[in-house]
Amino acid sequence: MGVRTDWLEILVRCKDNVKAKIRPYLETIDAPQPVLGTGAGGDPMKPVDVVAEKAIVEILQQRLSAFTLVSEESGIKEFGDNAEKCYVVVDPIDGTTNLVRKLPFYATSIAVATAPTLSAVSAALVADLYHDVTYTAITGGGAYCNGGKIAPSKLTSLDDAVVGLDMNSYQVKEIAPRLSDLIEKTKHIRHFGANALEICYVAEGLTDAFVDIRGKLRVTDMAAGYLILKEAGGIITTPEGHELIATLDPKQKIKFIASGNEQLHRRILGLVKLKC
Ligand code: IPD
Ligand code: CA
Repeated sequence: MGVRTDWLEILVRCKDNVKAKIRPYLETIDAPQPVLGTGAGGDPMKPVDVVAEKAIVEILQQRLSAFTLVSEESGIKEFGDNAEKCYVVVDPIDGTTNLVRKLPFYATSIAVATAPTLSAVSAALVADLYHDVTYTAITGGGAYCNGGKIAPSKLTSLDDAVVGLDMNSYQVKEIAPRLSDLIEKTKHIRHFGANALEICYVAEGLTDAFVDIRGKLRVTDMAAGYLILKEAGGIITTPEGHELIATLDPKQKIKFIASGNEQLHRRILGLVKLKC
């Protein structure tokens, strides 16, 4: 990956192209949306997912001589020679269900890494496509929302906290009891349905924490949010409190707890049961 590559400019152009290319689909979203097979991440692919991925790849091919695409839809694909020097991790549309139901909360998520591991992510963009709000980060450079520096919440108690919690459609009988103490102690629980964006809400201090211990979320959904939160000054670990270690692969699933600050993080770790 060239040292002088202006990643943020490229990622913003990818987002702009996604917005432009999905516009006709948004105008006809009331029509039945066919399923175009199963994406590499294991979920049904809708036309809007495919169009958004193509829009990102189109810009990447214009701007980069070589890269490895790691996408929730078409999986892992190499473009050009030396493709292993640059990984672009893409969830073209995070929150597809919201989008097709006209719920105004969906995003595009793109992370860039020098190696196929989460810890090697070095540039990131998550964009709320409905409200035109764009979060970005470069390793060591802080995190930004529409160009303004962001920082997470300093709230350390759950008494007034707003905590995002994903219990969506997966092993609820096992997961829900492990979260019951956290739910009981937290003043406000939320889930909006696009986890990339919900991690950015923690980065910006709009919410105080976000918890997804289902083991269902793909790393492609959260790789960009991961860097944005860390660069903002937030904390993200496994439910056991360890560093997140994951391969950048659409089949890789991940569990995590993300918080605005260390004290709140420790409080949440203490309430999330590892077993029931
Ligand atoms: C989904 C969203 C949702 C989460 C699902 C994800 P997708 O992403 O992030 O909030 O509950 O597990 O699959 O499928 O729309 O990219
Ligand atoms: Ca998706």
